[in-house]
Amino acid sequence: MSLFKKAYQPLIGIDISSVATKLVELSRSGDHYRVEHFAVHALQPNAMTENAISDVDQVVQSIRAAFKQSRSKSRDVAVAVSASHVITKTLTMPSNLKDDELSSQVEIEAEHYIPYPLDEVNMDYVVLGPSLDNPNEDDVVITACRKEIVDDYVAVIEAAGLTPVIIDVDANAVARAFVESGSSRVRQNQERTIAIIDFGATTTHVNVLHNNHSVYTRDHSFGGKRLTEEIQRRYGLSYDEAGLAKKVGGLPENYQSEILLPFVDAMSQEAARGLQFFYSASPYNSIDEVLIAGGCAMIHGVDKVIADRVGVTTEIFNPFSAMSLAKRINPERINKDATAMVVACGLAMRRHKK
Ligand SMILES: Nc1ncnc2c1ncn2[C@@H]1O[C@H](COP(=O)(O)OP(=O)(O)OP(=O)(O)O)[C@@H](O)[C@H]1O
Ligand SMILES: [Mg+2]
Repeated sequence: MSLFKKAYQPLIGIDISSVATKLVELSRSGDHYRVEHFAVHALQPNAMTENAISDVDQVVQSIRAAFKQSRSKSRDVAVAVSASHVITKTLTMPSNLKDDELSSQVEIEAEHYIPYPLDEVNMDYVVLGPSLDNPNEDDVVITACRKEIVDDYVAVIEAAGLTPVIIDVDANAVARAFVESGSSRVRQNQERTIAIIDFGATTTHVNVLHNNHSVYTRDHSFGGKRLTEEIQRRYGLSYDEAGLAKKVGGLPENYQSEILLPFVDAMSQEAARGLQFFYSASPYNSIDEVLIAGGCAMIHGVDKVIADRVGVTTEIFNPFSAMSLAKRINPERINKDATAMVVACGLAMRRHKK
C-alpha cells in the first residue's frame, strides 16, 4: 500500500496516422520521463484518408493489436485530430468576466469565425493571459473541429475497449513533445523561433514554435509514400515489400543514387518551401533552428542536406533521446521508429488527474 496517491494517472498516447497506429505510455519523475510501453501496428493505405478515419474496423483492430503488443495495463487514452481539421482563432476578451460569462461570450464571438453551425462542432478555448495591446483584456484561443471527425476518434478508441479521456490536436502534441522532452533551449529573455518539420508517409507537417508556443502550422502533401511508390515501380515490389526494403535495405546498388538521393533532395526542397510559406504568412523572417521528425527523418544524412538547402542549423528530433527505457522496451526497436513517435509522445505527456 502506498501512503501517497499517484497525482497523475498513466495515460496512453495513441497517434492514428496514415501508415500506423502508434502507442506510447510514459512515467515521470520530476522532469525525467521513462518509456513504459510502446507499440507500432501497421495500417493499410485505405485506413485513413485525408487525415481522418475512413476504415473504422481496420483502425479498431489496429488499436487493439497495438495495445496488446504494448502490454499496457492502463485504459485511459489521449488521441489527436489533425490540425488540418481544426480552426483556431485568438480573440480578446475583457479580463474581468466570470467563467460562465466568458464561455457565453466566446460562443457568441465564435459564430463569426467558424464556418459550421456551432451544434455541429466541438469547441474548446484556453485563456492565454493578458493581451499585449490592452492589459484589461485577455487573449483567448478558441479551437473548433467538426463533431463527425472527433466522434470517429472517440468511437474507435471505445470500440477497442479503451477510454478516450483527451482529444488533442496533433500540432499541440508535437509542441509539447518538443518542450517536455528537454529539447527546448529557450533561456529567459531569449527569443527563439524553431520549425519542426515532420515528414510522414503522406503529409509533411510544418509546425513553428516561438518561445515554445505554436505560432504556425501547415500541412503539405508530400511524404515517404512517394519513395515507397518509386521503389515499387522501379523494382516491381508490393507496397509492403517496398516499405520494408526502405527500412532494412537490400535494394539494388543504383537505389542510393537514382532513387534515394533525389527523394532526399525533394525533402529539402519541401523544407525550404515550408519555411517560405511560413515567412510569407507571418511577421517572422528568420528561424533559429529546424528539427526534422517523422519516419522519413530516419533516412541517414537527411539533416545535412536540409541544413545545406535552408541555411539553418538542422537536427533530427528524437523525442526519446533524454528518456530512460523500462526493461521491457527493446532499445533497438524503439530507435528505429523514434522520429515517427513525436505525436504519440506529446499525447502521452498530457497529464490528467483522477
Ligand atoms: N528507416 C527509414 N528509412 C526511410 N524511410 C522510412 C524509414 N522508416 C520509416 N520510413 C518512412 O516513413 C514514412 C512513415 O513515417 P511516419 O510514421 O512519420 O508517417 P505517418 O505519421 O504514418 O504519416 P502521416 O503523418 O503522413 O499521416 C513511411 O513512408 C516509411 O516508409
Ligand atoms: Mg505523422
